[in-house]
Amino acid sequence: MVDLGALSLEQKASLTSGGDFWHTQAVADIPAVMLTDGPHGLRKQATSADALGLGNSVPATCFPPAVALASSWDENLVDRVGAAVGAEAHAENVAVVLGPGVNIKRSPLCGRNFEYFSEDPFLTGRLGAALVHGLQSQGVGASVKHFAVNNQESDRMRVSADVDERTLREIYLPAFEHIVRTAAPRTVMCSYNKINGTYASENRWLLTELLRDEWGFEGLVVSDWGAVNDRVAALVAGLDLEMPPSGTDDEIVAAVRSGALDEQVLDRAVARVLDLVRSAPQDAPSCVADEHHALARKVAAACAVLLKNDGDLLPLDAESAETIAVIGEFARTPRFQGAGSSQVTPTRVDTALDAITAVVGAERVTFEPGFVLDGVRDAALQGAAVKAAEGSHVALLFLGLPPQDESEGFDRRDVFLPADQMLLLAAVHAVNPRTVVVLSNGGVVRTAGIELHAAALLEGWLLGQAGGSATADLLFGLTNPSGRLAETIPERLPDTPSFPYFPGGEQHSRYGEGIYVGYRYYDTVEHPVAFPFGFGLSYTEFELSDLKVSISDGNSASVSVHVANVGDRAGATVVQVYVHDVACRVDRPVHELKGFAKAELEPGETHTVQLELDPSSFAFWSVQASRWVVEAGEFEIRVGFSSREIEATARITLPGDEPIPTLNPMSTIAEWLAHPSGGPVLMEAMKAAGAAGVPPELVAMAADMPISKLVSFGFGLSQEQLDGLLEAAAARVSG
Ligand code: GLC
Repeated sequence: MVDLGALSLEQKASLTSGGDFWHTQAVADIPAVMLTDGPHGLRKQATSADALGLGNSVPATCFPPAVALASSWDENLVDRVGAAVGAEAHAENVAVVLGPGVNIKRSPLCGRNFEYFSEDPFLTGRLGAALVHGLQSQGVGASVKHFAVNNQESDRMRVSADVDERTLREIYLPAFEHIVRTAAPRTVMCSYNKINGTYASENRWLLTELLRDEWGFEGLVVSDWGAVNDRVAALVAGLDLEMPPSGTDDEIVAAVRSGALDEQVLDRAVARVLDLVRSAPQDAPSCVADEHHALARKVAAACAVLLKNDGDLLPLDAESAETIAVIGEFARTPRFQGAGSSQVTPTRVDTALDAITAVVGAERVTFEPGFVLDGVRDAALQGAAVKAAEGSHVALLFLGLPPQDESEGFDRRDVFLPADQMLLLAAVHAVNPRTVVVLSNGGVVRTAGIELHAAALLEGWLLGQAGGSATADLLFGLTNPSGRLAETIPERLPDTPSFPYFPGGEQHSRYGEGIYVGYRYYDTVEHPVAFPFGFGLSYTEFELSDLKVSISDGNSASVSVHVANVGDRAGATVVQVYVHDVACRVDRPVHELKGFAKAELEPGETHTVQLELDPSSFAFWSVQASRWVVEAGEFEIRVGFSSREIEATARITLPGDEPIPTLNPMSTIAEWLAHPSGGPVLMEAMKAAGAAGVPPELVAMAADMPISKLVSFGFGLSQEQLDGLLEAAAARVSG
């Protein structure tokens, strides 16, 4: 393949923009390679792209989208999904799969939350890295997206995400950072939006200083489709490949010729495009779709979250003669993925109705759609459904968000299920208390009214093409539910921290809630929620014991805890480790997820979970120091089954990673008293001046006063004395 030096300026310019909607530009003997969606299944258009690049893709296995995958809390399983998608992409000669999407769920209203993992950056980073690893294990590149701070669909191509530095660093960047540092994605996709006024596609701090210089990214930066607004500015910022082509290569040529663009900048981008072309898999092995369908079913069963199960109504008895009313159009017409660029043409689709009928036999099942998906109430359908429920032992209601309610490209306005479905649920429950609700939704829905009329509630999210059979596996106990919430379900939309600000207006979205996203907010302010982050029920019970925490070295710690299955059925649970900073000079969330492990246990089995907490587990981003800081002091390690089910805690004291601060005239009294040498020096001086007995309330009042104010207020300290204190404190530190 011709090397860079042999290419003309025009050829080089054309390589930094696509050849068509899905391919890079072929130049000389440099072949074009294909980049295409998507995060939970291959979306490769069968023919050349249509106007939106959305229609008619080759059949591929549709796995559960990220909202469901995240609820598995299972890195190994997510890795396997990545490998399966990668294998199918490889078989179709695709070089890069455009996923995973790892944007943080700032608001339940975001139309693309189905395509993202969590409200928590730690969980998002670990699962996103697993998907990248799986994809790339098949020789296909991943494209971590949308970099960065793309947390809404409203006005997404123009809006400026106005977010402070600490919130960026602690919430919206960590998942990308973890994936770049640990999984080496072949590409990163920049987002449409601006960040604090600068388009991501032209943001040199984001694409070069942070991504490459600080994090060490060595791959290629590709634009989101249509995200480049200024080709030259994008190249200078570090964006290597514009997709799809915008017919502006001549702007690059002209800029180099005029000296406005350093040709080395162009060469750097071309070199990365050539690396991408060289890394594309050459052969095209076949792959077996049926195996992947079985995997999709296993994965889906690990994703659904059992939220309620009064009287252990579930699992249902497959062998009994009890009759079952299967109600809801979603049982017959499953909603198993979200709309937009990630939408896969599945190889096949299982329905819950068929799967349930296959388990218990047609004679035990009565089906009624109960509603139509357009949301208009149909009294006849509802009446027939109520009648079926009345005449059956148990009623299974399959409710959810109709496809038109949420999608890429727009945000929701509320979190309610359609009113006609809620009316149906109340009517069914009124005649049959043994009502089970199974939800299909990409974004969180308000569960209060649902829970009121359901003895059991299974949050199915969107479960992919095998979700129908996986749901039957869960309802009849062939699989024990093990999903855990990867995002809080709030009681009401106005309770959500971003509610006053989302989605913003006049091309600005102000991230006024700062770092207090999801449970970081609800748990810190102790606000009631419908279901907490990390929550999920099982058909068995688990217990934690013997928590041990030891400082391994410096500011790291080792955590060990026993988890036991104390029930009578095999099952899996997720042991979660949260870190609470007992006292810090800045405000911090009450605790943050810093470790987790999924454990599969037979009845009576006990497993020891070992987790390592490195210094990043304790650090906050110091805007003052412009770096991550572990402040010396006490931390509490909290272990449990959700952010609100803390079963055991242990405290440790860390030395921190900061040098002893140098005191100065503007250091406060409190800083002096807390200082290892300044404290004793000041106390001695106060004692000598007979001021040691200052009443505590006065000390408290003066705590935040810079010590030099004692001089200027004439509070008994002269400038000479202050100079002496500073010298004595400095001498003790150096001594
Ligand atoms: C879209 C999406 C992106 C997708 C790309 C190609 O607009 O934002 O996630 O990969 O275009 O379809």
